Amino acid sequence: MWSLKKVMNMEVTLRKTTIEDLENVLNAENHPDNSCYVYQWSYDEHKTSLQNLNILHYIICNDNNEFYGYIILDNVQDISRSVNLRRIVITKKGIGIGRSVLQKIQKIAFEELKIHRLWLDVFVDNNRAYELYKNVGFRLEGTLIDSYFRNNAYVSQHIMAKLHSEYNG
Ligand SMILES: CC(C)(COP(=O)(O)OP(=O)(O)OC[C@H]1O[C@@H](n2cnc3c(N)ncnc32)[C@H](O)[C@@H]1OP(=O)(O)O)[C@@H](O)C(=O)NCCC(=O)NCCS
Repeated sequence: MWSLKKVMNMEVTLRKTTIEDLENVLNAENHPDNSCYVYQWSYDEHKTSLQNLNILHYIICNDNNEFYGYIILDNVQDISRSVNLRRIVITKKGIGIGRSVLQKIQKIAFEELKIHRLWLDVFVDNNRAYELYKNVGFRLEGTLIDSYFRNNAYVSQHIMAKLHSEYNG
């Protein structure tokens, strides 16, 4: 498993999402393994976001363009340079792709965009995502109690963040 993770880490690529990718994006977003953990956008909302200069929408793939998921940064033009990691979905889970992508996205955010703060929210029952964010250095800033109504019940959301000064490359 260790060597597989290493191989996967080296193979993962981020490239800008195109309209042709949106079927894969929507299939991943709507999949029952993911839909309870991420907000759902329509085809048109994703399509519009591709033209939005305040949003960076990336496909996660390998060198052969095999689809592994997608990731969205929002508010990239924020005057306070506080950027929201709005959504990440990995279709091949548990083999290190998420960790590798979060390392790459931090490099883009802190080194290329030179942002001050990268933040996200995560449902408190999403243990896999919460552990991953902690593992790559996001701090828990607080918890929004009963902030979202999902599947006929209220659920709370953790707010997590990392500052440029906490980024080690
Ligand atoms: C959450 C998600 C992005 C993580 O990506 P991933 O590729 O599966 O995660 P990785 O394989 O890179 O795992 C990295 C770390 O996550 C944690 N992790 C992974 N699987 C876990 C599990 N089943 N339970 C708890 N922690 C887990 C571990 O800390 C792991 O590090 P380790 O292997 O060194 O122990 C992915 O599973 C996913 O798309 N989930 C559904 C959508 C979602 O929840 N998006 C995030 C919304 S906030």
